[in-house]
Amino acid sequence: MTRTILFAGPASDWPDYEHRLPAAFAAAGLDAVLTRDARDPAAVDYIVYAPSGPISDFAPFTRARAVLGLWAGVEQIVGNPTLTQPLLRMIDDVGLTEGMVEWVVGHVLRHHLGMDRHITCAPGDWVQTCPPLARDRQVCVLGLGALGSACAKALAGLNFQVSGWARSKKAIGGVACFHGEAGLAQALAGAEIVVLLLPQTPDTANLFDAARLASLRAGAVILNPGRGGLIDDAALLAALDTGQIGHATLDVFRTEPLPADHPFWAHPRVTVTPHIASTTRPATAAACIADSIARAARGERLPNLVDRARGY
Ligand SMILES: NC(=O)c1ccc[n+]([C@@H]2O[C@H](COP(=O)([O-])OP(=O)(O)OC[C@H]3O[C@@H](n4cnc5c(N)ncnc54)[C@H](OP(=O)(O)O)[C@@H]3O)[C@@H](O)[C@H]2O)c1
Repeated sequence: MTRTILFAGPASDWPDYEHRLPAAFAAAGLDAVLTRDARDPAAVDYIVYAPSGPISDFAPFTRARAVLGLWAGVEQIVGNPTLTQPLLRMIDDVGLTEGMVEWVVGHVLRHHLGMDRHITCAPGDWVQTCPPLARDRQVCVLGLGALGSACAKALAGLNFQVSGWARSKKAIGGVACFHGEAGLAQALAGAEIVVLLLPQTPDTANLFDAARLASLRAGAVILNPGRGGLIDDAALLAALDTGQIGHATLDVFRTEPLPADHPFWAHPRVTVTPHIASTTRPATAAACIADSIARAARGERLPNLVDRARGY
């Protein structure tokens, strides 16, 4: 049976997927046609979706077996009342995960080694300092899912003292894992660098408010490649001004692109990266999508299923 797969990503992504997805379907043994034509919604079997694409009303897609997100974050679709089909999010152990591990490790090492001091040094600026070894530096990763666990493992592999936190209990070699509300303070205790890789949900909104920021080790560095809503912007700016937070490297924001007049741009203790920590890479993402659809078509359990009640 030939499946009809609707590509509902942004038009700008179509050249990246137009040939890759059909090739991936064939490689996965899937008999499928890819289309961007949504004029007959009742004929669509699966929807490949991104929030920046053309579809926000899923009700007419009465036959669709699943909606497959091109993004890891689902906060823009998870509460959509027209979505009754199962929602699968993007997990790509190659493109997305490796990209995030490289961004996180790179930015942790920047702060760990104090690289800025030398990158910006002037002639004659010959001050020799010796940073601690990674084994003497505490790093905390909040969120131990597909991305956070890979980052925690990579940091532990460099000998950092790594703690991590998730909703449910985890066991990751080399990582002190904590969970639940009670575990958060334990995970954060003493951390000099904190990495936020939580999804944005009602439970995680403003997790880093003034009180939480004040509870961190003085001068701690925050890296946020998770979502902008995890941090109270005004509280962060205040904590940066006092030096309670030594630096914030932020990749995600409440409003994107970050407005030109937002104080983050000009703050000397903030580094802004424009939501590039890890992007969905079509070459590997196409294979992930094809694999998920092939499994669904074989009647197997749907992979990477979003729990609508939890919000991620
Ligand atoms: N900046 C970028 O370029 C970029 C790229 C991709 C993704 N992201 C962001 O990264 C986030 C994480 O991605 P992922 O694939 O790793 O997600 P994931 O696999 O769903 O992992 C989420 C983790 O957060 C934990 N968590 C969720 N709610 C929690 C709560 N209330 N208390 C404690 N822990 C909680 C989960 O705990 P359990 O394991 O116990 O469920 C899980 O460990 C995405 O949601 C997205 O916002 C950003």
